[in-house]
Amino acid sequence: MAQESIRVDVGIVGGGPAGLMAALLLKRRGINAAVVERRSEDQIYRTHRAGILEAGTVEMLVQSEIDSRVLTHGHEHRGTVLSFNGQRQRIDFQDLVGRSVWLYPQNEVFLDLATAWQREGGAIFWSADHVEVHGVDSTHPSITFHDSAEDQRTIEAELIIGADGSRSSCRRLIPESVRTDYFTSYPYAWFGILCEAPPTAAELIYANSDVGFALISQRNERVQRMYFQCDPDTDPEEWTDEEIFDHIQRVLGENGDVRLKRGPIIERTVLPFRSYVCDPLTFGRLVLAGDAGHTVPPTGAKGLNLAFSDVRALVPEIAEFLGRLRGAAPGGGATALEEPLLRYSRTALDRVWKAQNFSYWATNLLHREPGDDAFAQRRRRGEFDAITGSRYGRAFFADCYTGWTGDWK
Ligand code: PHB
Repeated sequence: MAQESIRVDVGIVGGGPAGLMAALLLKRRGINAAVVERRSEDQIYRTHRAGILEAGTVEMLVQSEIDSRVLTHGHEHRGTVLSFNGQRQRIDFQDLVGRSVWLYPQNEVFLDLATAWQREGGAIFWSADHVEVHGVDSTHPSITFHDSAEDQRTIEAELIIGADGSRSSCRRLIPESVRTDYFTSYPYAWFGILCEAPPTAAELIYANSDVGFALISQRNERVQRMYFQCDPDTDPEEWTDEEIFDHIQRVLGENGDVRLKRGPIIERTVLPFRSYVCDPLTFGRLVLAGDAGHTVPPTGAKGLNLAFSDVRALVPEIAEFLGRLRGAAPGGGATALEEPLLRYSRTALDRVWKAQNFSYWATNLLHREPGDDAFAQRRRRGEFDAITGSRYGRAFFADCYTGWTGDWK
Protein backbone atom coordinates (compact mmCIF):
# COMPACT_ATOMS: atom_id res chain seq x y z
CA MET A 1 0.00 0.00 0.00
CA ALA A 2 1.45 3.36 -1.03
CA GLN A 3 1.66 6.04 1.64
CA GLU A 4 1.55 9.62 0.56
CA SER A 5 1.56 12.79 2.55
CA ILE A 6 0.84 16.34 1.44
CA ARG A 7 1.13 19.58 3.35
CA VAL A 8 -1.35 22.43 2.94
CA ASP A 9 -2.49 25.41 4.96
CA VAL A 10 -6.02 24.12 5.43
CA GLY A 11 -7.37 20.56 5.26
CA ILE A 12 -11.07 20.33 4.50
CA VAL A 13 -13.28 17.35 5.31
CA GLY A 14 -16.31 17.48 3.02
CA GLY A 15 -16.55 18.32 -0.68
CA GLY A 16 -20.10 19.66 -0.65
CA PRO A 17 -20.89 23.33 -1.24
CA ALA A 18 -19.50 24.51 2.13
CA GLY A 19 -16.14 22.75 1.75
CA LEU A 20 -15.67 23.65 -1.90
CA MET A 21 -16.68 27.29 -1.49
CA ALA A 22 -14.26 27.59 1.43
CA ALA A 23 -11.47 25.98 -0.64
CA LEU A 24 -12.06 28.39 -3.55
CA LEU A 25 -12.28 31.54 -1.45
CA LEU A 26 -9.17 30.57 0.53
CA LYS A 27 -7.32 30.09 -2.75
CA ARG A 28 -8.34 33.62 -3.82
CA ARG A 29 -6.33 34.81 -0.79
CA GLY A 30 -3.30 32.66 -1.59
CA ILE A 31 -4.16 30.08 1.06
CA ASN A 32 -3.94 26.51 -0.20
CA ALA A 33 -6.35 23.78 0.79
CA ALA A 34 -7.00 20.12 0.08
CA VAL A 35 -10.45 18.54 0.23
CA VAL A 36 -11.40 14.99 1.26
CA GLU A 37 -14.90 13.68 0.56
CA ARG A 38 -16.40 10.30 1.46
CA ARG A 39 -18.92 10.29 -1.39
CA SER A 40 -18.24 10.27 -5.13
CA GLU A 41 -18.74 13.43 -7.16
CA ASP A 42 -21.68 11.79 -8.90
CA GLN A 43 -23.35 10.75 -5.64
CA ILE A 44 -23.33 14.33 -4.38
CA TYR A 45 -24.54 15.68 -7.69
CA ARG A 46 -27.48 13.27 -7.60
CA THR A 47 -28.56 14.21 -4.08
CA HIS A 48 -31.60 16.46 -4.32
CA ARG A 49 -31.59 19.38 -1.95
CA ALA A 50 -33.29 22.76 -1.77
CA GLY A 51 -33.15 25.15 -4.65
CA ILE A 52 -33.50 28.68 -3.30
CA LEU A 53 -30.50 31.01 -3.11
CA GLU A 54 -30.55 34.29 -1.22
CA ALA A 55 -29.25 37.35 -3.06
CA GLY A 56 -26.09 37.27 -0.93
CA THR A 57 -25.43 33.65 -1.91
CA VAL A 58 -25.80 34.54 -5.58
CA GLU A 59 -23.44 37.47 -5.06
CA MET A 60 -20.84 35.12 -3.57
CA LEU A 61 -21.12 32.75 -6.53
CA VAL A 62 -20.78 35.61 -9.00
CA GLN A 63 -17.98 37.47 -7.21
CA SER A 64 -15.88 34.37 -6.63
CA GLU A 65 -15.20 34.20 -10.39
CA ILE A 66 -15.97 30.54 -10.80
CA ASP A 67 -18.16 30.90 -13.90
CA SER A 68 -21.27 29.87 -12.03
CA ARG A 69 -24.29 29.39 -14.28
CA VAL A 70 -26.59 30.88 -11.66
CA LEU A 71 -27.41 34.02 -13.63
CA THR A 72 -27.86 32.19 -16.94
CA HIS A 73 -29.59 29.00 -15.76
CA GLY A 74 -31.15 30.14 -12.48
CA HIS A 75 -34.48 31.94 -12.23
CA GLU A 76 -34.96 35.15 -10.31
CA HIS A 77 -37.99 34.99 -8.03
CA ARG A 78 -39.19 38.42 -6.99
CA GLY A 79 -41.80 37.03 -4.63
CA THR A 80 -43.45 33.93 -3.27
CA VAL A 81 -47.00 32.84 -2.52
CA LEU A 82 -48.36 31.79 0.87
CA SER A 83 -51.63 29.86 0.90
CA PHE A 84 -53.99 28.78 3.69
CA ASN A 85 -56.94 26.53 2.88
CA GLY A 86 -56.82 27.75 -0.71
CA GLN A 87 -56.63 31.47 0.05
CA ARG A 88 -53.48 32.95 -1.32
CA GLN A 89 -51.36 35.99 -0.61
CA ARG A 90 -48.28 36.96 -2.60
CA ILE A 91 -45.24 38.22 -0.72
CA ASP A 92 -43.60 40.71 -3.07
CA PHE A 93 -39.94 40.58 -2.03
CA GLN A 94 -38.82 43.35 -4.36
CA ASP A 95 -41.53 45.75 -3.27
CA LEU A 96 -41.10 44.95 0.44
CA VAL A 97 -37.34 44.70 0.89
CA GLY A 98 -35.84 45.38 -2.55
CA ARG A 99 -34.26 41.94 -2.94
CA SER A 100 -35.00 38.72 -4.85
CA VAL A 101 -34.06 35.09 -4.41
CA TRP A 102 -32.91 32.73 -7.17
CA LEU A 103 -34.19 29.27 -7.92
CA TYR A 104 -31.01 27.37 -8.76
CA PRO A 105 -30.80 23.83 -7.42
CA GLN A 106 -28.07 22.91 -5.00
CA ASN A 107 -26.86 20.16 -7.37
CA GLU A 108 -25.97 22.86 -9.87
CA VAL A 109 -24.24 24.99 -7.22
CA PHE A 110 -22.20 21.92 -6.33
CA LEU A 111 -21.33 21.24 -9.97
CA ASP A 112 -20.21 24.86 -10.50
CA LEU A 113 -17.96 24.71 -7.45
CA ALA A 114 -16.54 21.23 -8.10
CA THR A 115 -15.81 22.15 -11.73
CA ALA A 116 -14.08 25.39 -10.75
CA TRP A 117 -11.98 23.78 -8.01
CA GLN A 118 -10.80 20.97 -10.27
CA ARG A 119 -10.23 23.27 -13.25
CA GLU A 120 -8.00 25.38 -11.04
CA GLY A 121 -6.00 22.31 -10.05
CA GLY A 122 -7.27 22.19 -6.47
CA ALA A 123 -6.54 18.98 -4.56
CA ILE A 124 -9.64 16.89 -3.98
CA PHE A 125 -10.06 13.23 -3.05
CA TRP A 126 -13.53 11.83 -3.84
CA SER A 127 -14.77 8.48 -2.52
CA ALA A 128 -12.32 8.54 0.39
CA ASP A 129 -12.61 5.87 3.05
CA HIS A 130 -11.55 5.63 6.71
CA VAL A 131 -11.41 9.42 6.95
CA GLU A 132 -10.02 10.47 10.32
CA VAL A 133 -8.97 13.81 11.72
CA HIS A 134 -6.14 13.91 14.25
CA GLY A 135 -4.53 16.40 16.58
CA VAL A 136 -7.05 19.23 16.55
CA ASP A 137 -5.87 20.02 20.08
CA SER A 138 -2.22 20.12 18.96
CA THR A 139 -0.28 22.42 16.63
CA HIS A 140 -0.12 19.73 13.91
CA PRO A 141 -3.59 18.63 12.90
CA SER A 142 -3.95 16.16 10.06
CA ILE A 143 -6.44 14.09 8.07
CA THR A 144 -5.72 10.45 7.23
CA PHE A 145 -7.77 8.43 4.74
CA HIS A 146 -7.70 5.84 2.00
CA ASP A 147 -8.17 7.38 -1.43
CA SER A 148 -10.33 5.83 -4.17
CA ALA A 149 -7.39 3.59 -5.20
CA GLU A 150 -7.14 2.37 -1.59
CA ASP A 151 -3.82 4.15 -1.10
CA GLN A 152 -3.30 5.49 2.38
CA ARG A 153 -2.85 9.25 2.50
CA THR A 154 -2.20 12.00 4.99
CA ILE A 155 -2.97 15.69 4.71
CA GLU A 156 -1.00 17.77 7.18
CA ALA A 157 -2.34 21.26 7.77
CA GLU A 158 -2.38 24.21 10.14
CA LEU A 159 -6.14 24.07 10.44
CA ILE A 160 -8.96 21.67 9.61
CA ILE A 161 -12.39 22.71 8.33
CA GLY A 162 -15.12 20.18 9.16
CA ALA A 163 -17.66 20.63 6.38
CA ASP A 164 -18.86 17.05 6.49
CA GLY A 165 -22.60 17.59 6.64
CA SER A 166 -25.33 17.03 9.18
CA ARG A 167 -23.95 13.67 10.32
CA SER A 168 -20.54 15.26 10.84
CA SER A 169 -17.86 13.19 12.49
CA CYS A 170 -15.62 16.27 12.84
CA ARG A 171 -18.20 17.79 15.18
CA ARG A 172 -17.56 14.99 17.68
CA LEU A 173 -13.96 16.18 18.03
CA ILE A 174 -15.23 19.18 19.99
CA PRO A 175 -15.28 17.75 23.51
CA GLU A 176 -18.69 17.56 25.12
CA SER A 177 -17.37 19.59 28.02
CA VAL A 178 -16.77 22.51 25.63
CA ARG A 179 -19.75 22.16 23.34
CA THR A 180 -23.45 22.85 23.76
CA ASP A 181 -25.76 20.94 21.41
CA TYR A 182 -29.07 22.70 20.81
CA PHE A 183 -31.63 20.41 19.30
CA THR A 184 -35.32 20.18 18.53
CA SER A 185 -37.34 17.66 16.55
CA TYR A 186 -40.68 17.85 14.73
CA PRO A 187 -43.50 15.30 14.59
CA TYR A 188 -43.59 15.30 10.76
CA ALA A 189 -41.37 15.03 7.71
CA TRP A 190 -41.57 16.09 4.05
CA PHE A 191 -42.41 13.75 1.21
CA GLY A 192 -40.44 15.17 -1.73
CA ILE A 193 -41.04 14.35 -5.38
CA LEU A 194 -39.59 15.21 -8.76
CA CYS A 195 -42.07 14.86 -11.60
CA GLU A 196 -41.99 15.33 -15.33
CA ALA A 197 -44.55 18.05 -15.92
CA PRO A 198 -44.67 21.71 -16.87
CA PRO A 199 -44.57 24.23 -13.97
CA THR A 200 -47.80 24.62 -12.02
CA ALA A 201 -46.94 28.16 -10.94
CA ALA A 202 -44.34 30.80 -11.78
CA GLU A 203 -43.29 31.25 -8.15
CA LEU A 204 -43.07 28.94 -5.14
CA ILE A 205 -46.29 28.27 -3.25
CA TYR A 206 -46.03 27.43 0.45
CA ALA A 207 -49.43 26.11 1.51
CA ASN A 208 -51.02 25.14 4.82
CA SER A 209 -54.46 23.55 5.04
CA ASP A 210 -56.63 21.34 7.18
CA VAL A 211 -54.78 18.37 5.65
CA GLY A 212 -51.33 19.84 6.30
CA PHE A 213 -48.55 21.46 4.31
CA ALA A 214 -47.42 21.35 0.68
CA LEU A 215 -44.81 23.25 -1.31
CA ILE A 216 -44.86 23.75 -5.05
CA SER A 217 -41.38 24.42 -6.36
CA GLN A 218 -39.86 24.15 -9.82
CA ARG A 219 -36.75 22.86 -11.52
CA ASN A 220 -37.13 23.69 -15.21
CA GLU A 221 -39.73 23.67 -17.99
CA ARG A 222 -39.96 19.85 -17.90
CA VAL A 223 -39.24 18.80 -14.30
CA GLN A 224 -40.92 20.06 -11.13
CA ARG A 225 -40.17 19.67 -7.42
CA MET A 226 -42.95 19.38 -4.85
CA TYR A 227 -43.24 18.40 -1.21
CA PHE A 228 -45.99 17.63 1.25
CA GLN A 229 -46.12 16.99 4.97
CA CYS A 230 -46.10 13.34 6.01
CA ASP A 231 -45.47 11.09 8.96
CA PRO A 232 -41.68 10.56 9.47
CA ASP A 233 -42.19 6.77 9.17
CA THR A 234 -43.89 6.97 5.77
CA ASP A 235 -42.71 4.48 3.17
CA PRO A 236 -42.60 6.61 -0.02
CA GLU A 237 -43.49 3.59 -2.16
CA GLU A 238 -46.86 3.27 -0.39
CA TRP A 239 -48.34 6.23 -2.28
CA THR A 240 -49.41 6.03 -5.92
CA ASP A 241 -48.68 8.99 -8.20
CA GLU A 242 -52.40 9.82 -8.34
CA GLU A 243 -52.75 9.75 -4.55
CA ILE A 244 -49.81 12.13 -4.24
CA PHE A 245 -51.17 14.65 -6.73
CA ASP A 246 -54.71 14.40 -5.32
CA HIS A 247 -53.37 15.12 -1.86
CA ILE A 248 -51.28 18.12 -2.97
CA GLN A 249 -54.29 19.47 -4.89
CA ARG A 250 -56.37 19.17 -1.69
CA VAL A 251 -53.76 21.21 0.22
CA LEU A 252 -53.82 23.91 -2.50
CA GLY A 253 -57.64 23.92 -2.55
CA GLU A 254 -59.93 21.95 -4.85
CA ASN A 255 -61.77 24.89 -6.32
CA GLY A 256 -59.12 27.58 -6.54
CA ASP A 257 -57.24 28.89 -9.54
CA VAL A 258 -54.18 26.68 -8.96
CA ARG A 259 -54.59 23.43 -10.89
CA LEU A 260 -51.70 21.08 -10.36
CA LYS A 261 -49.91 20.03 -13.57
CA ARG A 262 -49.36 16.30 -13.21
CA GLY A 263 -46.81 13.95 -14.78
CA PRO A 264 -44.76 10.83 -14.06
CA ILE A 265 -43.01 10.94 -10.67
CA ILE A 266 -39.33 10.17 -11.24
CA GLU A 267 -37.98 10.55 -7.70
CA ARG A 268 -39.50 10.30 -4.24
CA THR A 269 -37.91 10.59 -0.80
CA VAL A 270 -38.94 11.31 2.77
CA LEU A 271 -36.88 14.12 4.30
CA PRO A 272 -36.47 14.18 8.08
CA PHE A 273 -36.96 17.42 9.95
CA ARG A 274 -34.79 18.71 12.72
CA SER A 275 -33.15 21.82 14.06
CA TYR A 276 -29.65 21.63 15.49
CA VAL A 277 -26.89 24.04 16.50
CA CYS A 278 -23.40 23.25 17.78
CA ASP A 279 -21.89 26.04 19.88
CA PRO A 280 -19.02 26.89 19.54
CA LEU A 281 -18.16 26.07 15.93
CA THR A 282 -14.48 25.73 16.77
CA PHE A 283 -12.10 23.87 19.02
CA GLY A 284 -8.31 24.11 18.84
CA ARG A 285 -7.33 23.72 15.19
CA LEU A 286 -10.81 22.70 13.99
CA VAL A 287 -13.65 24.85 12.64
CA LEU A 288 -17.06 23.63 11.49
CA ALA A 289 -18.93 25.09 8.52
CA GLY A 290 -22.35 24.43 7.02
CA ASP A 291 -24.55 21.52 8.07
CA ALA A 292 -21.74 20.07 10.19
CA GLY A 293 -22.36 22.88 12.65
CA HIS A 294 -26.09 23.39 12.27
CA THR A 295 -29.16 21.92 10.62
CA VAL A 296 -32.44 23.65 9.80
CA PRO A 297 -35.74 22.22 8.60
CA PRO A 298 -36.16 22.94 4.87
CA THR A 299 -39.17 25.25 5.18
CA GLY A 300 -37.13 28.45 5.15
CA ALA A 301 -34.74 27.21 2.42
CA LYS A 302 -31.83 28.31 4.60
CA GLY A 303 -29.45 25.28 4.61
CA LEU A 304 -27.18 26.13 1.69
CA ASN A 305 -27.44 29.85 2.36
CA LEU A 306 -26.15 29.35 5.89
CA ALA A 307 -23.27 27.24 4.57
CA PHE A 308 -22.30 30.16 2.34
CA SER A 309 -22.65 32.77 5.08
CA ASP A 310 -20.46 30.59 7.33
CA VAL A 311 -17.79 30.52 4.64
CA ARG A 312 -18.08 34.24 4.09
CA ALA A 313 -17.42 34.86 7.79
CA LEU A 314 -14.79 32.14 8.06
CA VAL A 315 -12.35 32.89 5.24
CA PRO A 316 -11.08 36.30 6.49
CA GLU A 317 -10.72 34.87 10.01
CA ILE A 318 -8.63 31.98 8.68
CA ALA A 319 -6.43 34.52 6.89
CA GLU A 320 -6.05 36.39 10.18
CA PHE A 321 -5.32 33.14 12.05
CA LEU A 322 -2.61 32.09 9.58
CA GLY A 323 -1.14 35.60 9.64
CA ARG A 324 -0.89 35.45 13.42
CA LEU A 325 0.53 31.95 13.28
CA ARG A 326 3.29 32.97 10.91
CA GLY A 327 4.06 36.20 12.68
CA ALA A 328 3.79 34.62 16.11
CA ALA A 329 6.72 35.04 18.42
CA PRO A 330 7.77 31.70 19.87
CA GLY A 331 5.58 30.97 22.85
CA GLY A 332 2.88 33.42 21.67
CA GLY A 333 -0.24 32.20 23.41
CA ALA A 334 -2.71 29.86 21.76
CA THR A 335 -5.55 32.01 23.06
CA ALA A 336 -4.61 35.06 20.97
CA LEU A 337 -3.90 32.82 18.00
CA GLU A 338 -7.30 31.18 18.08
CA GLU A 339 -9.27 34.37 18.76
CA PRO A 340 -10.12 34.85 15.04
CA LEU A 341 -11.63 31.35 14.98
CA LEU A 342 -13.76 32.12 18.02
CA ARG A 343 -14.81 35.38 16.38
CA TYR A 344 -15.90 33.38 13.33
CA SER A 345 -17.97 31.14 15.57
CA ARG A 346 -19.72 34.10 17.21
CA THR A 347 -20.39 35.92 13.93
CA ALA A 348 -21.65 32.81 12.15
CA LEU A 349 -23.84 31.69 15.04
CA ASP A 350 -25.58 35.08 15.28
CA ARG A 351 -26.81 34.56 11.74
CA VAL A 352 -27.47 30.86 12.26
CA TRP A 353 -29.82 31.66 15.14
CA LYS A 354 -31.78 34.17 13.07
CA ALA A 355 -32.17 31.48 10.43
CA GLN A 356 -33.06 28.90 13.09
CA ASN A 357 -35.77 31.21 14.32
CA PHE A 358 -37.19 31.81 10.86
CA SER A 359 -37.04 28.15 9.86
CA TYR A 360 -38.72 27.05 13.09
CA TRP A 361 -41.33 29.78 12.98
CA ALA A 362 -42.21 29.28 9.30
CA THR A 363 -42.37 25.52 9.88
CA ASN A 364 -44.83 25.95 12.71
CA LEU A 365 -46.87 28.50 10.79
CA LEU A 366 -47.18 26.30 7.71
CA HIS A 367 -47.65 22.80 9.13
CA ARG A 368 -50.38 21.06 11.01
CA GLU A 369 -49.27 19.04 14.00
CA PRO A 370 -50.72 15.58 14.48
CA GLY A 371 -53.17 15.89 17.36
CA ASP A 372 -53.75 19.61 16.85
CA ASP A 373 -57.17 20.58 18.14
CA ALA A 374 -59.54 23.04 16.48
CA PHE A 375 -58.09 25.91 18.52
CA ALA A 376 -54.53 25.21 17.37
CA GLN A 377 -55.35 25.26 13.67
CA ARG A 378 -57.71 28.25 13.94
CA ARG A 379 -55.05 30.18 15.90
CA ARG A 380 -52.52 29.33 13.20
CA ARG A 381 -54.90 30.82 10.67
CA GLY A 382 -54.99 33.96 12.80
CA GLU A 383 -51.20 34.10 12.73
CA PHE A 384 -51.21 33.57 8.96
CA ASP A 385 -53.67 36.44 8.51
CA ALA A 386 -51.64 38.70 10.81
CA ILE A 387 -48.53 38.08 8.69
CA THR A 388 -50.05 38.18 5.21
CA GLY A 389 -52.64 40.87 5.94
CA SER A 390 -50.17 43.57 6.90
CA ARG A 391 -47.29 45.15 5.04
CA TYR A 392 -45.19 44.87 8.21
CA GLY A 393 -45.91 41.17 8.52
CA ARG A 394 -45.18 40.51 4.86
CA ALA A 395 -42.00 42.59 5.15
CA PHE A 396 -40.85 40.45 8.10
CA PHE A 397 -41.35 37.30 6.06
CA ALA A 398 -39.63 38.82 3.01
CA ASP A 399 -36.70 40.11 5.06
CA CYS A 400 -36.04 36.70 6.62
CA TYR A 401 -36.64 34.69 3.45
CA THR A 402 -34.37 36.78 1.23
CA GLY A 403 -31.59 36.80 3.82
CA TRP A 404 -31.92 39.99 5.90
CA THR A 405 -30.13 43.16 4.99
CA GLY A 406 -27.50 41.60 2.78
CA ASP A 407 -24.78 42.77 5.17
CA TRP A 408 -24.27 39.17 6.30
CA LYS A 409 -24.99 39.95 9.91
C1 PHB B 1 -36.80 23.19 -3.47
O1 PHB B 1 -37.01 23.76 -4.55
O2 PHB B 1 -36.34 22.05 -3.42
C2 PHB B 1 -37.12 23.91 -2.20
C3 PHB B 1 -37.50 25.24 -2.25
C4 PHB B 1 -37.82 25.90 -1.08
C5 PHB B 1 -37.75 25.25 0.14
C6 PHB B 1 -37.36 23.93 0.19
C7 PHB B 1 -37.04 23.25 -0.98
O3 PHB B 1 -38.09 25.90 1.28
